[in-house]
Amino acid sequence: MANSIFPYTDRFGVLEGLPAEPMADADILALLADLASKEDQRWEGGKCSGTTYGGDHEHYAVVAEAYSHFLHVNTLQRDLCPSMSHMEYEIITMTSDLLHGEAVTQLDPNQKVCGVIGAGGTESILNAVLGYRNWAQSRGIEHPQMILPDTAHPAFLKGAHLFGLELVVVPTDPVSTLVDPQAVRAAITPRTAVIVGSAGNYAYGTIDPIEALSAIAVETGVGLHVDGCLGGWILPWGQRLGYTNIPVFDFRLPGVTSISADTHKYGYGPKGVSVLLWRDASYRRHHYFVEPDWNGGIYASAALLGSRSGGVIAGTWAGMRRLGTPGYLRKAKAIFEAAFAMQEHVRSHPELTIMGDPSFCFAFRSDEFDVYHVNDRMKTNGWRFNGLQHPSALHFCVTGPQTQPGLVDAWAAELQDGVAYAREHIGEQPRSGSMYGGAGLSPAELASARSESIRGIGMFIDLITDGPPS
Ligand SMILES: Cc1ncc(COP(=O)(O)O)c(C=O)c1O
Repeated sequence: MANSIFPYTDRFGVLEGLPAEPMADADILALLADLASKEDQRWEGGKCSGTTYGGDHEHYAVVAEAYSHFLHVNTLQRDLCPSMSHMEYEIITMTSDLLHGEAVTQLDPNQKVCGVIGAGGTESILNAVLGYRNWAQSRGIEHPQMILPDTAHPAFLKGAHLFGLELVVVPTDPVSTLVDPQAVRAAITPRTAVIVGSAGNYAYGTIDPIEALSAIAVETGVGLHVDGCLGGWILPWGQRLGYTNIPVFDFRLPGVTSISADTHKYGYGPKGVSVLLWRDASYRRHHYFVEPDWNGGIYASAALLGSRSGGVIAGTWAGMRRLGTPGYLRKAKAIFEAAFAMQEHVRSHPELTIMGDPSFCFAFRSDEFDVYHVNDRMKTNGWRFNGLQHPSALHFCVTGPQTQPGLVDAWAAELQDGVAYAREHIGEQPRSGSMYGGAGLSPAELASARSESIRGIGMFIDLITDGPPS
């Protein structure tokens, strides 16, 4: 039976085991092309927040061809693929250049920014958390702590959970959406390994006061990780373009000891690559893993994963090389302009409040009605927001597809319609709610997934991984 999680069941049936007969290559490729082109229509119209950051099929075609040359390559077997060392190094140096790695060596000629590639933002953050735990333990801190704003990405919580760090969560200001550096300073103890700030955070796209956090890190000797997974590859272009609400958050600040920046977001590379930069290799070695006595030989890996495909590395490198500085700047300018124009339309509605002082990614809430009514209505016109909670708000992360002609006008008209609809439904229960990546669920499925919190979410994960109901 088909449902919105497994919509193709009626059309293709479902394999519950190995097929008795092979499927013809032409049929496989035709099927996949058909599925992809239908699913791409969801974001190609420009009404989908985040997720497809470039949205440029010409770019994707080059990236895909680069990928195809190396998809079978295992980056762990470097004797067979020295090209991977070359490309990974350049992905890291390009990211370091963007985030002013040169400032580190200018300040201290004995230090040099270095990096490690991860499979995504979550892995970069996990690598960082593991590195800081081991770094702290090497300095005699048996049970290290990590201090982070309540807006920090859940990957940090996952890291603390996996690697046994104590979490100290500092609330953010409800109006600015930013962490108060004094509250962070007050939370620091002799067991603090690292403090965290985001540039920008996922929910509101806003940038924590990294300069003040850097001063605290220098004063107290703790590490400072800047989560630039989302913003690391676009905010620096905004600085170059002169947008005044994008403060310095990178290695120009002396207390910043690491930055994560995802090339699979605004680096416009294939999904599956992120860069973790360290201020110096003396930090990075703390997440290395070496097993010298394994009967399979001496085993070593720089980060959490073992085998990784060379395809995503070649795709990332190709995408970065073909865009270069002018390409990134051009794309960023169009995205920032669309984002600020969309925000102006939000501000024109007195019922709506933009949260904090955002740039490429913004969120809004309402004191007058349940903002999820706006989502309910705009969804019927094809808009896909990300729903937030505590407080209820809608987030839109502006990407390439929003820069197409006419899109901002459609946003203006359909937002107005959404606000009118929300006013008409004050006091009623909206149909949609806040689940990360769950905006595609039907209201009933979302409700069932949300019910009873953790158990409900567990059920949701079961739903997407266990196949369609028989
Ligand atoms: C600020 C921030 N940090 C970390 C992540 C995690 O990245 P990923 O989903 O690639 O693991 C995200 C994802 O959106 C993010 O927005």
